[in-house]
Amino acid sequence: MKETVVSGIRSTGKLHLGNYYGALSNFVKMQNDYNCFFFIADLHSLTTHPTPGDLSRTVRQVVMEYLAAGIDPEKSTIYIQSDVPEVAELYLYMNMNAYLGELERAAAFKDKVRDNPDNVNAGLVTYPVLMACDILIHHATKVPVGKDQEQHLEMTRTFGNRFNRLYNVDYFKEAFAFSYSDKLVKIPGLDGNGKMGKSNGDASCIYLSDTPEVIRKKVMRAVSDSGPTEMNQPKPESIQNLFDLMSIVSTPDTVEHFNELYNKCEIRYGDFKKQLAEDMVLATEPVRSRIEAISADEEYVQKVIRIGAEKAGESARKTLKEVREIIGIKKLY
Ligand code: TRP
Repeated sequence: MKETVVSGIRSTGKLHLGNYYGALSNFVKMQNDYNCFFFIADLHSLTTHPTPGDLSRTVRQVVMEYLAAGIDPEKSTIYIQSDVPEVAELYLYMNMNAYLGELERAAAFKDKVRDNPDNVNAGLVTYPVLMACDILIHHATKVPVGKDQEQHLEMTRTFGNRFNRLYNVDYFKEAFAFSYSDKLVKIPGLDGNGKMGKSNGDASCIYLSDTPEVIRKKVMRAVSDSGPTEMNQPKPESIQNLFDLMSIVSTPDTVEHFNELYNKCEIRYGDFKKQLAEDMVLATEPVRSRIEAISADEEYVQKVIRIGAEKAGESARKTLKEVREIIGIKKLY
């Protein structure tokens, strides 16, 4: 039997190159080797109170972009979290043995409290419980997430083990973070530092749905400097970032060509950026056209979502039936 993989996708809308070459490329590989469940975490996103219109629109957008980027609904189960209400029921049960102290100590929770002191709601504190349920409900053992989610995975193991101990069963399995490479490729942003991410602003991100014109504009405006003044001078972060991006979308010859120009202090950033922009346009073209094709095919999108809900629901219903039995929740009529 293949091991089961679960991963939740934040439903914050458009995917960028960082997602594409990072987490997503991992997902696309995993679907051949494991029994994969990928879901859009729309219940989690309620912690920040999106408007109803925004919520459904972004969820649909994310589904389409994941399909366009290579999630294959024949191989994986792709579904929307709220389509499987058993997750919410399991969340209720698991909340009974998650302790407030341990939830309040979670790093992600502390960050949220610091950033949004006016919205410290109960859903935010129990976010890790819901995440644990996403994983436990399918008995997953592998979760493709980054460093920032390690603590949540540890809590998932704690909750599962605690349930097992409380009811004296060997029911929930332990899940661990998983990635094909030790280090996921880091995709830098266009803003001169850090990594590509929505939190660093739209200008730092190249979205898979960006048109060639938008891509060109963003790349031409990317942060650079006034140019090297000494031979073989080390590159400042903003320039290194652009070279890193180039090494992902361009041929090695192209990267080498601009590297030599840089080392000889002959690089012209205008030309360098133009080349980078064109290679980005080319690299993203197949996904962009698939996004367009899929968004024009409403019937297909609906079918994928419905089949996903059925497959995930089947797995979830089986778990909930067993969990209710273990807990002693039973029909007395
Ligand atoms: N917390 C994850 C994130 O912020 C999203 C998520 C929710 C998730 N449920 C999950 C990830 C279950 C993996 C498994 O990225």
